[in-house]
Amino acid sequence: MEQEIVLQWEHKGRLVLDTRAAEGTGLRLTEPEMKRLVQPRALHFIARHTAQGAQPVRELNDSENLLIKGNNLLALYSLKRVFGEKIKLIYIDPPYNTGKESFGYNDRFRHSVWLTFMKNRLEAARDLLRPDGSLWINIDDQEAHYLKVVCDEIFGRENFVANVIWQKKFSPQNDARYFSDNHDHILVYAKDKNRWRPNPLPRSEKALARYKNPDNDPRGPWASGDLTVKTYNPACDYPIRTPSGRVINPPRGVCWRVSKQRFEELVADGRIWFGKNGDGVPRLKRFLSEVKSGMTPLTIWTHREVGHNQEAKQELRKALNDRAFFHTPKPERLLKRILEIGSMPGDWVLDFFAGSGTTAAVALKTGRRFIAVEQMDYIREVTLERLKNVARGESSGISPLVGWKGGGSFLFARLMSGNAALERAVRSAQNRTQLSKLLDLLERAGGVLRGDGFASARDFREHFG
Ligand SMILES: C[S@@+](CC[C@H](N)C(=O)[O-])C[C@H]1O[C@@H](n2cnc3c(N)ncnc32)[C@H](O)[C@@H]1O
Repeated sequence: MEQEIVLQWEHKGRLVLDTRAAEGTGLRLTEPEMKRLVQPRALHFIARHTAQGAQPVRELNDSENLLIKGNNLLALYSLKRVFGEKIKLIYIDPPYNTGKESFGYNDRFRHSVWLTFMKNRLEAARDLLRPDGSLWINIDDQEAHYLKVVCDEIFGRENFVANVIWQKKFSPQNDARYFSDNHDHILVYAKDKNRWRPNPLPRSEKALARYKNPDNDPRGPWASGDLTVKTYNPACDYPIRTPSGRVINPPRGVCWRVSKQRFEELVADGRIWFGKNGDGVPRLKRFLSEVKSGMTPLTIWTHREVGHNQEAKQELRKALNDRAFFHTPKPERLLKRILEIGSMPGDWVLDFFAGSGTTAAVALKTGRRFIAVEQMDYIREVTLERLKNVARGESSGISPLVGWKGGGSFLFARLMSGNAALERAVRSAQNRTQLSKLLDLLERAGGVLRGDGFASARDFREHFG
């Protein structure tokens, strides 16, 4: 079906491997070249990390956490065979295209390349999501609205869930030229909104404090709610006599929430509160034991609840024992909130713009399984080091909140670039001896392979042997 409204831009139909490389050959790839680009690559497993340290990877199972070094477009296409429709939640925090990054194109070029770059990845990511999964994108004002339209196109406008506003800064920047920008957007999409539901959040101390028991009701603490509603219904407009004898009518244009008969039933059941002296406007008692087990998430998240950018930098510094630095981490409390709403322990969570690995760290600490992808070399001294420390039980970020003492494991892997050549060599092996030699060589080169549907060197051997 033809779409009624489309966002059109230059390079929309291309594949962008890397925004920095786009000006070179990136945008001139031919169709067959683009097809080749998205063929699955093998993963070279470097080591398995646990609290006890690094061990060689001799065998694999499909439930191990993965930290992958490599380009995320290639990684997404490579993960498809094993992880297609398996991921419960994807969180990404892509480069915001603020103009501060070092690719020196004119703004129009950068804007269009960035949109293509995101479109390519979101299309591939959608295939990895479970039918009841969700996608969360952290973004600022610069691109949020264009990105929303691109997401509508890929996920369907009907699957848009919310635009969460996160207060990322707590103090105003008075030297800002126009406005002091202190929020980010978090766009939330369901793969299928009919099948996705947010998990209720645990009630905060503040929310719990609203439930009291001034009349010693045996049903326990309660909070009182308004008994009037604005949608006027004459059947619900009647006078009420308080225990003190005062007669109260609903304000003009407003009526009571319930009919006279229902009101009397509620009074008989001790569910109407007329204030301490029995003289107040009637209110409805809502018992803590009867309300939904948690709170429905709101769309404004303050720094008090989920942290801010400075907090994120401090907790990362602590998690890395001050040995490395990363400029744009997100606070662990923010990811905790997201993972709590969108996933349960044991679910797969994916972040393919991993940066310092906040999503993976929070996933480990809260019992989710994770895949994290990062292309830059600092993955070793920042992301890998952080996750090693998490496994050893570091005490920063949400550790005290969740009682984290360490544990868990993950595999550190590299996306192989020479997979095609390798496969060609294996396919053209003349006999078993040659094949066996090749596989031995591969294994000695470090670890086992997965990619093109082969879970291990043994699978590979069985298939070709
Ligand atoms: C804003 S940071 C993410 C920060 C992260 N949320 C955290 O808490 O640390 C974006 C990251 O995406 C990475 N990135 C950008 N393009 C990528 C690509 N094509 N493949 C893999 N990683 C990429 C960047 O190197 C950077 O580390």
